[in-house]
Amino acid sequence: MTMTLTSTASAGTTLKASAAEKGRYFGAAVAGQKLSDSAYVTILNREFNSVVAENDMKWDATEPQQGRFNYTGGDRLVAHAQANGQSVRGHALLWYQQQPGWAQNMSGSALRSAMMNHVTQVATHFKGKIHSWDVVNEAFADGNSGARRDSNLQRTGNDWIEAAFRAARAADPGAKLCYNDYNTDGINAKSTGIYNMVRDFKSRGVPIDCVGFQSHLGTSLSGDYQANLQRFADLDVDVQITELDVMGGGNQANIYAGVTRACMNVSRCTGITTWGVRDCDSWRGSDNALLFECSGNKKAAYTSTLNALNAGPGITPSPTTPGPTTPGPTSPPPTSPSPTTPPPTTPPPGGCTASVSLNSWTGGFVASVKVTAGAAGTNGWNVSVTLPGGASVTNTWSATASGSTGTVRFANVNYNGRLGAGQVTEFGFQGTGSGAGMTPTCTAS
Ligand code: XIL
Repeated sequence: MTMTLTSTASAGTTLKASAAEKGRYFGAAVAGQKLSDSAYVTILNREFNSVVAENDMKWDATEPQQGRFNYTGGDRLVAHAQANGQSVRGHALLWYQQQPGWAQNMSGSALRSAMMNHVTQVATHFKGKIHSWDVVNEAFADGNSGARRDSNLQRTGNDWIEAAFRAARAADPGAKLCYNDYNTDGINAKSTGIYNMVRDFKSRGVPIDCVGFQSHLGTSLSGDYQANLQRFADLDVDVQITELDVMGGGNQANIYAGVTRACMNVSRCTGITTWGVRDCDSWRGSDNALLFECSGNKKAAYTSTLNALNAGPGITPSPTTPGPTTPGPTSPPPTSPSPTTPPPTTPPPGGCTASVSLNSWTGGFVASVKVTAGAAGTNGWNVSVTLPGGASVTNTWSATASGSTGTVRFANVNYNGRLGAGQVTEFGFQGTGSGAGMTPTCTAS
């Protein structure tokens, strides 16, 4: 008679099984055309339970002409994922690179409107299908400044990132919303700049759920890699390794293991994605930066990664629904100084003004509305707009719309109703038909 010993906590034999045992995902970036390569797909489906489009969900791919959306590549990846039990990371709604030419040539409020429309449209299209969205990618500068990177996006105003997160939350309340960047592989000026932004967003109720660390790595791993992940996690966001690849050679297996261990040791680190599957799929060309040889053989880095997954502590994944649709604290932060004399109980008429700027194309438009508080400030505001005949509102961000045709009323949401004297906030809406000639009227309360 033979006796078989079984262990209840069996070590996983694939990346996805090991990660799943520990409450995490293990993902890969997928280039659309590779989905017809059967050797590639065999590895992808055997080893990975999360996918991200290497290029197919970027702005140049999804909105090649303004207002004309193309979801062919993104939909193909989502269909593949759904058929094979993989979750999908969305990458990326706004990025200074891989913008379509028309967006590269825009600036100011026209660009801001186009950006918000892009976020709203793409997040709405993929609503319910995305585990985590990289809402904003690579918005911080390299080097010692800790400051934002200059870009056409940044030049629309420093609040573009929070506006994008709010628009994404409104469009797909079930997706986790991430900020994603590189050269953030330890505690340095750039990661600290991002850390300060995330802390500020959390304190003001800007809807951010996660931070992605790309981790395109060379021949060494910073000693404070894990401590950096942990300090972000301590801000009450999930962290994820989003684009991992490592210079090939002697130290590669150790670095992969070190990154994996760091993630396992941080309970809010919910998953790891490698930026491709086999060395010859990698954007890093001859660096041989991934876990599989071109032949499909597993590399030493594969084994060290698998071992680190199996050795790591497990977590109980948090629910996939990140929370309420309407973000923000119930009482807004005291951004405006309180008046020295108490405000009158009945606000004076004309307590705010509104102006609209329009970005139109044949058959549709995006309106950006600027609300400016009068001398008494506002506790809340309403903007009425009468649309031309035949036009209707299809989407609204940073305000709540009543009605969609004729005279439409937009009320503040809970984070932008209270304005100090002269303070400005913006909301927007998208419509079909022509938006020409709209004159907004603002009423404050
Ligand atoms: C890269 C892709 O891998 C390439 O195919 C493409 O030519 C350029 O972009 N940071 C990111 C990714 O966030 O989107 C980039 O992907 C790699 C760097």
